[in-house]
Amino acid sequence: MNTLTLNNGIQIPIIGCGTNTYGKENRAYQGAITGETTEIESALAAGYTLFDTAIAYRNEAVLAEGIRKVGVDRTKLFLTSKIPGDPAYVGTDDLVHQNVTNSLQALNTSVIDLYLIHRPWDDLTDVLRVWKALEDEVKSGRLRSIGVSNFNNEQLQYLLDHATIKPSVNQIESHPGKWNDDQIAFGQAHGVTIEAWSPLKGVSDDAKAVLSTIGSAYGKSWAQVLLRYQIDRHVIVIPKSHDAQRQRDNLSVFDFTLSESDRLRIQTL
Ligand SMILES: NC(=O)c1ccc[n+]([C@@H]2O[C@H](COP(=O)([O-])OP(=O)(O)OC[C@H]3O[C@@H](n4cnc5c(N)ncnc54)[C@H](OP(=O)(O)O)[C@@H]3O)[C@@H](O)[C@H]2O)c1
Repeated sequence: MNTLTLNNGIQIPIIGCGTNTYGKENRAYQGAITGETTEIESALAAGYTLFDTAIAYRNEAVLAEGIRKVGVDRTKLFLTSKIPGDPAYVGTDDLVHQNVTNSLQALNTSVIDLYLIHRPWDDLTDVLRVWKALEDEVKSGRLRSIGVSNFNNEQLQYLLDHATIKPSVNQIESHPGKWNDDQIAFGQAHGVTIEAWSPLKGVSDDAKAVLSTIGSAYGKSWAQVLLRYQIDRHVIVIPKSHDAQRQRDNLSVFDFTLSESDRLRIQTL
């Protein structure tokens, strides 16, 4: 698996598996948890090692159960979870630590590779307080890396200015029509690795048509072209599919090279 090195020296796979509708009724984000592990099992069989879950997804335990069923060595995996930026979860430092404990138990692991603040809130001094509690979790060895999600440049700069442990990741939305290139450039200029959420969702039919045309020269789909484009600029992608073949397809993006003119064309989408 191709990796990037985070600002704390830890290796992270450049492509991972999103999970936000796995193990849920009707494959719906808000759907009731069914405990179904089929997609986790097929993703592991396809070769995914990075899995992206969150407390808000309610499926950390489903991920753990899929991993248990397949029997894969935990040390080969890179598990990401996220804590909601909501007073019910982060209102006190004790709550932060309790929720880390809950995530560790649900994921059936003694350490989580990457733990993110899922969304920022207005009071940045309070965000910093929560960040400090997460720093303590890194120091005590329960979290290997910590980062943020959906932080704008100003919010990220505040943490960079005041944190002892710099955020290693900012996970943001990025796809054609909403690349968020300024956030990508800002994060990367400050040593913060960018992960693209919804790398495939929300892509217009027009953009898909252009990407498909580009892909036809390489025998690749619009989705594979798009994932490769992000990977080439060192943006981690976490596509999610409920289809085992598409899970495999989304990993099969390292056996072709986009030309410079293709990359310039994609950049305009
Ligand atoms: N931090 C945040 O705030 C945040 C927000 C949103 C998402 N996320 C994370 O990012 C992950 C990915 O985002 P996402 O799940 O919203 O969307 P996504 O992975 O960008 O797209 C999922 C959609 O694309 C389809 N798809 C997947 N592979 C395909 C392929 N090769 N060809 C054609 N269609 C394909 C899937 O359909 P099929 O299932 O039918 O293949 C599904 O409809 C989430 O699962 C979650 O882990 C984080």
